[in-house]
Amino acid sequence: MAPDLLAIRRVTVRGTWRDARRTGPVVIGVARLLGDSEAMTALRDAVARAAAAPFPVLIEGESGTGKELVARALHEEGPRRDETFAAVNCATFSDDLIETELFGHAKGAFTGAMQSRRGLLEASSGGTVFLDEVGELSPRAQAKLLRTLQDGEIRKVGENVTRRLDLRVVAATNRTLAGEAAEGRFRRDLLYRLDVVHLHVPPLRARGSDIGRLATHYWDRTLMLTRGRARLARETMKALAAHEWPGNVRELQNVLAALAVAAPPHGEVGPELLPAAIRRAAEERRPTLAEARRAFDRAFVHEALARAGGRRSLAARELGLSRQGLAKLVERLGLAARRPL
Ligand SMILES: Nc1ncnc2c1ncn2[C@@H]1O[C@H](COP(=O)(O)OP(=O)(O)OP(=O)(O)O)[C@@H](O)[C@H]1O
Ligand SMILES: [Mg+2]
Repeated sequence: MAPDLLAIRRVTVRGTWRDARRTGPVVIGVARLLGDSEAMTALRDAVARAAAAPFPVLIEGESGTGKELVARALHEEGPRRDETFAAVNCATFSDDLIETELFGHAKGAFTGAMQSRRGLLEASSGGTVFLDEVGELSPRAQAKLLRTLQDGEIRKVGENVTRRLDLRVVAATNRTLAGEAAEGRFRRDLLYRLDVVHLHVPPLRARGSDIGRLATHYWDRTLMLTRGRARLARETMKALAAHEWPGNVRELQNVLAALAVAAPPHGEVGPELLPAAIRRAAEERRPTLAEARRAFDRAFVHEALARAGGRRSLAARELGLSRQGLAKLVERLGLAARRPL
């Protein structure tokens, strides 16, 4: 496939707020981030503060937590809001084409280069480049990106002219990049270039009080698509609030979409239409003391690990545990398999 086509597949230059103004309700910036939990309020504040400064931002969080939404909010709250927001999925870069994709190429630079082409970085110059899934970059791609960020300039393949880059860099990952660096899978020097301002998007289970607001919002949006008019019963809301949501907000959206399809056109939607795993949550009695303690331990340890950026020795010190003690606790609480930890 020609490099041009590859680039088009991999980059979507999403609408700026000017487009948003034209196409209906204007929700831009941090207002996109719904939820009144302490964690969400703190995140909105952090995004607004980070947006005003020119420094690179690294967004970490589990899949479906809203990292891309945070990236957009950063762009829209900042001085570049009228410029391009280019989202680049790093997982799809091929090693062979990375240079032409990032930097572009001159006419005749290689067989088939019939015309000169701008690369992704030049095309988004002046705006924000969002390096999504940055933890997936190959070692070669990491090296190329590092050079560019260090030099602040690019040179097209097959050309000697350098061009200065004026970009806001925002990166996201559902891995813990510090942990990846500790294990030798991510360059530490690149980590330091990207992780200047650090934003952690908490999982939905750590901000259960947001579930009601999100569910109502996405239920209304789903009904606009299905033209339905049914309401969610109180028991249904309770079941949604009690679920753990391993797939976070995206899973909630999907469950509501399936529910809207199964729901009657009018009246109340009871919990019996929910998937069995979620429904059971509503049928359950109140938790025992042991269960409540375990839930508390899980959230507490999870937060400490997230704060420590996955560095277990740091988290262990904060929790007053030995490294082995923490490892055992993580195992016992069933937190081991879950990323990012
Ligand atoms: N706080 C929030 N308020 C409203 N919508 C949200 C919020 N957080 C996430 N969403 C919605 O949930 C969906 C998933 O969010 P997003 O794509 O930003 O997640 P992500 O962290 O980038 O996920 P992944 O790691 O899988 O790419 C999107 O439709 C987004 O609009
Ligand atoms: Mg994403």
